[in-house]
Amino acid sequence: MFDSKTRTVVVVGAQWGDEGKGKLVDVLAEQADWVVRYQGGANAGHTVHIGDKSFILHQIPSGILHPGVRCAIGNGVVMDPETLFTEVDELVEDGVDVEGRLYVSERAHLVMPYHKLVDKASAASKAIGTTGRGIGPAYEDKVARRGVRVLDLRNVERLRELVTSGVERANAQLERSGSDVRASVDDTMATLGALAPRLLGLADDVGLCVHRAIKSGAAVLLEGAQGSLLDIDHGTYPFVTSSNTTVGGAATGVGISPMALNAALGVVKAYTTRVGNGPLPTELEEPLHSHVRQLGHEFGATTGRPRRCGWFDGVVVRYAARVNGLTGLAITKLDVLDTLEQLAVCTGYKVGDEVFTEFPADLAVLEKAEPIYEWFPGWQQSTQDARTLADLPAAARAYLDRLEQLCETPIAYVSVGTRRDQIIPVA
Ligand code: GTP
Repeated sequence: MFDSKTRTVVVVGAQWGDEGKGKLVDVLAEQADWVVRYQGGANAGHTVHIGDKSFILHQIPSGILHPGVRCAIGNGVVMDPETLFTEVDELVEDGVDVEGRLYVSERAHLVMPYHKLVDKASAASKAIGTTGRGIGPAYEDKVARRGVRVLDLRNVERLRELVTSGVERANAQLERSGSDVRASVDDTMATLGALAPRLLGLADDVGLCVHRAIKSGAAVLLEGAQGSLLDIDHGTYPFVTSSNTTVGGAATGVGISPMALNAALGVVKAYTTRVGNGPLPTELEEPLHSHVRQLGHEFGATTGRPRRCGWFDGVVVRYAARVNGLTGLAITKLDVLDTLEQLAVCTGYKVGDEVFTEFPADLAVLEKAEPIYEWFPGWQQSTQDARTLADLPAAARAYLDRLEQLCETPIAYVSVGTRRDQIIPVA
């Protein structure tokens, strides 16, 4: 991926999240000097399998698993300091040396304990199907210009003011939603006070650090979380996350110029999944639905929630390719389809008498959308040992060719298993 001209690469999910970005970032991080997260929070759940160990990283970039790679959490992330250090400690216990190579933007907003209480109690969060980790309420406070940033930990007086008004607002919200739980200013201050020295030790001007790294010719990987169809502007609103997951968000969420980005890799599954409520036009019917969910182990890394599964949706991925300006696709989980007799790919939607080949913005239209399918014979043999395209069965290659054509984006990688080595780089 990286070469003399391509030094700053964004990895973005091009469906509804859980596409396997963690594995791709892990593979690409081997060639990177920096890996930076740019949005979301502890609601991401990248899973990386190394040998017989599994690492689930919620906030720390997956690049941390590569010795020497510097990892940063950008200003666009809302960061939960409590779980950040649980994650750091677990990595250290597993023998990963984190010392001196993890940075946190001093401009990043903090997810406060009261954000989590409000998120868990909120009926709106339940309707959208959020992870209840306080991400939405933290972004709400950020946009309302009353959030707490990492740098606020340096000024206890100001911190107490922000916490006092945050707790008041949270308690009023908790009361309205019928919850008996209440937040406390003193408890919140005590929690932050205990975490502050450690967190401030990691705080830096991440935008400046990454800018300097780029200037010096370093290979920089910007790691997206969730997926393009969950983008607050471009996703299936309101069933979306609270941040810009797309490539535009990468520049603002790290604090560098969009002109500094050289390539955008869109990660997509060879089929489609989504967690939570909202439209999924190609959703499978039973018993195939449960069968594919079992084959793909489609249960959330963060919450364990079963994921909804569907056929590959070419309308969705072509839309994501356009919005992100994708320069390449990484198709993951091809192996999950190995045993199926036949496969479908959605090429358009029929709504009444109208045919849509571009993704509609209106949910009311999407709800009525009947997918138009093209059917493919299954290959019914294992692809897990394939390391070149030529190793793949002809039917699998034909399927991939059609995905590439429909999405108008060249395939750069095909992943055929959970392990690092189970990947086909496409020259
Ligand atoms: P979010 O940022 O939360 O959207 O996560 P993500 O995109 O990193 O995906 P996540 O790690 O939650 O889910 C991907 C799962 O699929 C992990 O368990 C991976 O190990 C697994 N996985 C990734 N690539 C492949 C593959 O090619 N084949 C199979 N069978 N599993 C894969």
